[in-house]
Amino acid sequence: MTKGIKIVTIGGGSSYTPELVEGFIKRYDELPIRELWLVDIPAGEEKLNIVGALAKRMVEKAGLPIEVHLTLDRREALKGADFVTTQFRVGLLDARAKDERIPLKNNVIGQETNGPGGLFKGLRTIPVILDICKDIEELCPDAWLVNFTNPAGMVTEAVLRYSNIKKVVGLCNVPVGIKMGIAQALDVTSDRIHVDFAGLNHMVYGLDVYLDGVSILDEVIEKLANPDHSMTMKNIAALGWELDFLRGLKAIPCPYHRYYYKTSEMLEEELEAAATKGTRAEVVKQVEKELFELYKDPELAIKPPQLEQRGGAYYSDAACNLINSIYNDKRDIQPVNTRNNGAIASIADDSAVEVNCIITKDGPKPISVGDLPVAVRGLVQQIKSFERVAAEAAVTGDYHTALLAMTINPLVPSDKIGKQILDEMLEAHKEYLPQFFQKVEM
Ligand code: G6P
Repeated sequence: MTKGIKIVTIGGGSSYTPELVEGFIKRYDELPIRELWLVDIPAGEEKLNIVGALAKRMVEKAGLPIEVHLTLDRREALKGADFVTTQFRVGLLDARAKDERIPLKNNVIGQETNGPGGLFKGLRTIPVILDICKDIEELCPDAWLVNFTNPAGMVTEAVLRYSNIKKVVGLCNVPVGIKMGIAQALDVTSDRIHVDFAGLNHMVYGLDVYLDGVSILDEVIEKLANPDHSMTMKNIAALGWELDFLRGLKAIPCPYHRYYYKTSEMLEEELEAAATKGTRAEVVKQVEKELFELYKDPELAIKPPQLEQRGGAYYSDAACNLINSIYNDKRDIQPVNTRNNGAIASIADDSAVEVNCIITKDGPKPISVGDLPVAVRGLVQQIKSFERVAAEAAVTGDYHTALLAMTINPLVPSDKIGKQILDEMLEAHKEYLPQFFQKVEM
């Protein structure tokens, strides 16, 4: 008899946890999980208890022998883990709201993973993930780290560059979302669709699309310009694309590309939202409140459909399919964030990219795409430079490096405005950025 799998989920009190539990339950026959440890910090204890109780009810209803453990002791949980998934938010949604509002005051996009917001989420998150990596190295050195924490691309980059952990995969639901959106627009099942994904996290392109193995890129491009098929995520306004632009691009952009190709309209939309219904973090806070009220119901033993109001729909599919394929050496193709290893010619071999990979028991093997089309190559490289400089700033706590990251981001219009935003955000997030404020004497 096999001993069964031990999964540890850091940020287990997240409202997304029922997605993950549902995914594990669905796949139990192939993925026999023996222990699921949900870990959180004291500030997340109440949420952990509520969502943990729901997870236990879900497992019980499914009649499966999965033990669900809830703990605030990360090190205790990590001992002997096979897979560690991470889905935490340093500073919780209040920090995200500041990431959105402070840039907006300066007429710059305020977004969770793009522009100044993405930079600051990285600065807060990277030191924590690197601490987790140290614990993994010591307590479960054979485990796979499956990171869902945003900014997932920058976080994967930082783990590859600044930790000793090699078994890391960054995950995102954007590629799954694109594939499902295409299937819906064509009214076919998604298993008939294949997309050649390549780029970076939240900066990924569909270079070609196939239905039953036949390229249908041109048809999908025409559909994408139709407002009924805008294929966006719940957290990104569905502003329509110019058909002639898409015809020129000859690739499928991801929903986040709107921040780069439609910057002024997205800014206007964000300013309007901030002045009326609130920024996305403020909206999500409300959704979370409602979700946790539902989760408290002792009769509830399934993932409530209301969770689909969040941008992370299908995330459990991405996470559970990945774990399943590593565990069972399935050798299927999945788009994940991994070390480039030459798959995209114009990106350094040792950088993280989001690209289709063959998923084996030894992890993802990226499929070579050659080079990206010249029209998108520059933007992808610029974002990669941004991610690398940002990760360096997160590790060193160096002010000049942080200002460099801010200013080279294509959404920041000048060094002066960049510095203004940087200074205000450093102050606003001081509590979560000790590396910038407590210099250790060497
Ligand atoms: C998308 C992204 C995720 C992100 C989520 C935000 O799905 O791919 O990386 O976490 O949206 O959704 P939310 O409901 O928190 O705005």
